[in-house]
Amino acid sequence: MKRLGILLSGRGSNFLAIAEAIRQQRLAGVEIAVVLSNKAGAPGIASAEALGLPAFVVESKGRSRAAHDAEMIARLREHNVDLVCLAGYMRLISAGFVRAFPNRILNIHPSLLPAFPGLHAQKQALEYGAQTSGCTVHFVDEELDHGVIVLQKVVPVLDADDEDALSARILEQEHIAYPEAIARVLSGEYEIRGRRYLRRG
Ligand code: GRF
Repeated sequence: MKRLGILLSGRGSNFLAIAEAIRQQRLAGVEIAVVLSNKAGAPGIASAEALGLPAFVVESKGRSRAAHDAEMIARLREHNVDLVCLAGYMRLISAGFVRAFPNRILNIHPSLLPAFPGLHAQKQALEYGAQTSGCTVHFVDEELDHGVIVLQKVVPVLDADDEDALSARILEQEHIAYPEAIARVLSGEYEIRGRRYLRRG
C-alpha cells in the first residue's frame, strides 16, 4: 500500500475526492495515512474523522514556519507517508519541508500555471480576461505554485461567469485531476527532464 499524507486548511473537497477515488478503486493500492490541518476547525478535519481516518490539527498561528513545519514533517514521518498532497493547504512550506520529501509533495492550484499563481486565481483569471482557465497539479518546489507540472485540465471562461461560477467549473475538474495525478506519480512511470514531466510506458 502506498500511503498518502493530506495537508489542508479548510473545506477539504479535494481531500474527499481523493478519498472517494480510493473507495472506488480508481486509485488502487493507495490509502490515506493521515490528514493534517494547520487550522483548528477546518471542515476537512471533521470529514476525515467521519471517515475514520487519523486526523490532526497542527496549529500554525503564532508559530515560526520552521517550528511548525518541523512538527508537520514529524507527523508525516510517524505515519510513514510515501506522498504528501497539499489540498487547499493555505500556508507556504519551507525549503526544509520540500527537501524532507524530495519530489514527493504535490499541490493543486486553480489556474493553468504559470498563469495566475497565488491567491484568488479564479478572480485573477476573470479580471485578466482569460478565455480559458483550469487547474494544475504540480510537484512542490521552493517557489510558490512553481514546481514541475504533472497534469492540467482546461475549462472555458464563459461570458456570464462570476468568480463563484468559474471556481465551481474548475473545482469539478480539480476533483478529477488530483486522483489522476496521484495515480500517475505513484506508478513511478515517469521521468522529469528539466521542467518536463514525461510519461513512460
Ligand atoms: C482549491 O481550489 C485548490 O485548488 C486550492 O484551494 C482550494 C481548496 O479547496 N489550492 P478544497 O479545500 O479542496 O475544497
